Amino acid sequence: MDHFPQNFRRVRQNPAIRRLLSDTQLNPAQFIQPYFFYEKLKQREDLSAIHGQYKHTTDSLLREIELGLENQINSVLLFPIQNEKRTDDFTYDFDLEVFRGIKHRFGQDIVLFADLCLCSNTQSGHCGYVNNHGVIENNSSVQELARKAGLYADAGVDVISPSDMMDDRILAIRSELNRGGHEQKLIMSYSTKFSSCFYGPFREAADSTPQAGDRKSYQISPDNLKDAIRCSIRDLDQGADILMVKPVGSYLDILLRLKQHPALETAPLAAYQVSGEYQGLKVMADQGLLNFEAALVESLIAIKRAGADLIISYGANNLVKTLQGL
Ligand code: PBG
Repeated sequence: MDHFPQNFRRVRQNPAIRRLLSDTQLNPAQFIQPYFFYEKLKQREDLSAIHGQYKHTTDSLLREIELGLENQINSVLLFPIQNEKRTDDFTYDFDLEVFRGIKHRFGQDIVLFADLCLCSNTQSGHCGYVNNHGVIENNSSVQELARKAGLYADAGVDVISPSDMMDDRILAIRSELNRGGHEQKLIMSYSTKFSSCFYGPFREAADSTPQAGDRKSYQISPDNLKDAIRCSIRDLDQGADILMVKPVGSYLDILLRLKQHPALETAPLAAYQVSGEYQGLKVMADQGLLNFEAALVESLIAIKRAGADLIISYGANNLVKTLQGL
């Protein structure tokens, strides 16, 4: 039988047809906007490390969340930065007060995710307790994280989001939440979190660069695919409601594999476009090398196409406007 000549360009001929046949869309309902807010800050400041983001005061944070809502972004991921670093006896009064204020103001209109880690509390800048031998202790760190999770839940956080990468923290956090009557609180585990240089701008923002050593003894090595997969399987087994790949731009293969893994394919999967990935696009745009908005959307489409259900991006709040402007 004769074949018609192949014409794949038919489907690309104009915007309406391209739109009709598009199989990957960005839905603002599935985006999460991260925010940094600081104790004892009088006025909002620009975050020089991540262009267009801020060091928020409590007031400016509330205003920004409101703006986000106007732009269809209902989910926020919060990073509280306290003034004082300690080695132990951590207190979280500042975090809790702000969470309560946000919930008081917005109630169920927003889904409040809170990053759960110790790295912005510790003098060492590590995500857990460091013992006298310089080792990051697992179990004592997990205990403190679970305690902190309980306090966060009491203060109204909807989704506890542990980013520390200690072993078995999900189990400990889930049982602490249930013990405190918080069966309805969700856990989004940073389950497949790599040891990455793309966190550079964030560490400047959160003032959480390790004083000594690095995070390679707890975060996953970029060259260990098996470890990357089994960490997400473990966290799902231990009760995580949402899993995550972070960073994502250099790890799209991991995202796709997790999405297609028989043990994981029905689990909600988030992807975190981290500070360095976002700021990298800003820097290229500043140099006139590309259009920031177009590059951002292209990078987000790639993340969605690779299998992310949820996307955490510093561009979330501007997403709807950005899409309209393209
Ligand atoms: C804290 C934490 C980090 C990020 C989110 N939570 C930094 C790190 O692990 O060093 C990175 C986020 C970003 O780069 O945008 N543990």
